[in-house]
Amino acid sequence: MNYGRSILSEVTGYVPGEQPREGGVIKLNTNENPFPPSPRVEEALRELAIEGLRRYPDPVSAGLRRACAERYGYPSKDWVIAGNGMDELLAMAIRAFVDPGDDILTPYPTYTLYETLAMLHGARPVLLDLDDSFQLTESFFQTPARLCFLPRPNAPSGVCTPRAEVEKLCEIFDGVVVIDEAYADFAEDNCMDFPQRHENAIVMRSFSKSFSLAGIRLGTAVARPELIAELLKTKDSYNLNAVTQCLGLAAFTDYEHMQANADRVREGRQYLTESLRRLGFHVPPSQANFVLAEWNGSPSASILFQELKRRNILVRYFPVRRLKHALRISVGAPEENEAVVNALGELIG
Ligand SMILES: Cc1ncc(COP(=O)(O)O)c(C=O)c1O
Repeated sequence: MNYGRSILSEVTGYVPGEQPREGGVIKLNTNENPFPPSPRVEEALRELAIEGLRRYPDPVSAGLRRACAERYGYPSKDWVIAGNGMDELLAMAIRAFVDPGDDILTPYPTYTLYETLAMLHGARPVLLDLDDSFQLTESFFQTPARLCFLPRPNAPSGVCTPRAEVEKLCEIFDGVVVIDEAYADFAEDNCMDFPQRHENAIVMRSFSKSFSLAGIRLGTAVARPELIAELLKTKDSYNLNAVTQCLGLAAFTDYEHMQANADRVREGRQYLTESLRRLGFHVPPSQANFVLAEWNGSPSASILFQELKRRNILVRYFPVRRLKHALRISVGAPEENEAVVNALGELIG
C-alpha cells in the first residue's frame, strides 16, 4: 500500500541516497541536546551486567514506571507506561483509541508524524490551522474526533498553548487528548498534573531532548490507570530493551543534571532568538529547544537551507504551506549557535 508518506523521512529528515556527513558537521536539525547526559548514565553503562542480557528484559518496565510515578506525583506505576521513544507511544495511542475511519484532530502546522501515523492506521487526520501567533483558534475546541494530539510546546513553532486552553480542551473534547510534552522541560510550565483531574488526558514525555538520550529511545506517558491499561494492551511484548531501561532509570534519578542542561539550552535559545531577530528574521517566542526563524526576504529560506548545508550546518526546512518561508534551528552548543547566526548573517548580506 502506498500512503505517500514515510515515517523515516518525516521524523528524521532522512533523504534516500544522501551520504551521511562525517566530521565537522554542525547538526541542528533534529532537536537533540548539545550537552552530555548525566554521568550516572555512563556509570550505569559501565556496570551493566552482561550476564543479565542473556534474559529478556522486564516486559512492563516496572522500575522506570515507578520512578516516573513518584517524580510526577502519581500514586503508582499503574499511571505510567514507557515506550520505545515517545513515537512508539503516539502510535500506541492511535491503536488503542482509534478505529480505521475515525477522525484524529491536530493543529497545523505541527509534528508531522501525527498525520503520517493516522494515515497508516486508516484514520482521517483533521488538521486545523493555528492563528498567526501559532495559537489554537476557537474551531479547534468545537471539532469532534476520537483522539487529539496537542504538542506543548508545539513544533516547529516552539509556541505553547496556554494551560487554561489545554484545560478547556480536556473538558470539552469528547475523546482522548494526548498532550505531547516532548519539549516541556525547556518550557515555563507543563500539564503533568492534568491526568489527576481529567480522565481523558494523557501526558507524554521524551528522554530524547532534555535528558540528552535520543540514542536509547525512551518515552513515557502518564494517564489514569484505565487509559494506561488500554495502552498496555497494544504494546509489543518487550518494547523496551534492558539497556534502555537501565540507562533511562539512571538518567531519571539525576533530575538536577537534566534541569541544569535545560537551563543552558534556554540560554542558547535566548541568544538565537535575539540574534536572529536582529538579523531581520521573525522568530515566534519559543519554549522548546529550537526556534523557528521565519524569513520572507532574499535569498529564500529554501536557498538558505541549501547554503547552510553546503557549509556543513544542518537545520530543518519544511517545504509545506505556512513553513516554506522558515527554518527550524535546534539550539546547539554556544559555538554552534554562533556559527549558524554568523553564516546566516553572511548569506543574507
Ligand atoms: C513534538 C514531538 N513529539 C514527539 C517526538 C518524538 O520523541 P522521541 O524521540 O521520544 O520518539 C518528537 C521528536 O522530535 C517531537 O518533535
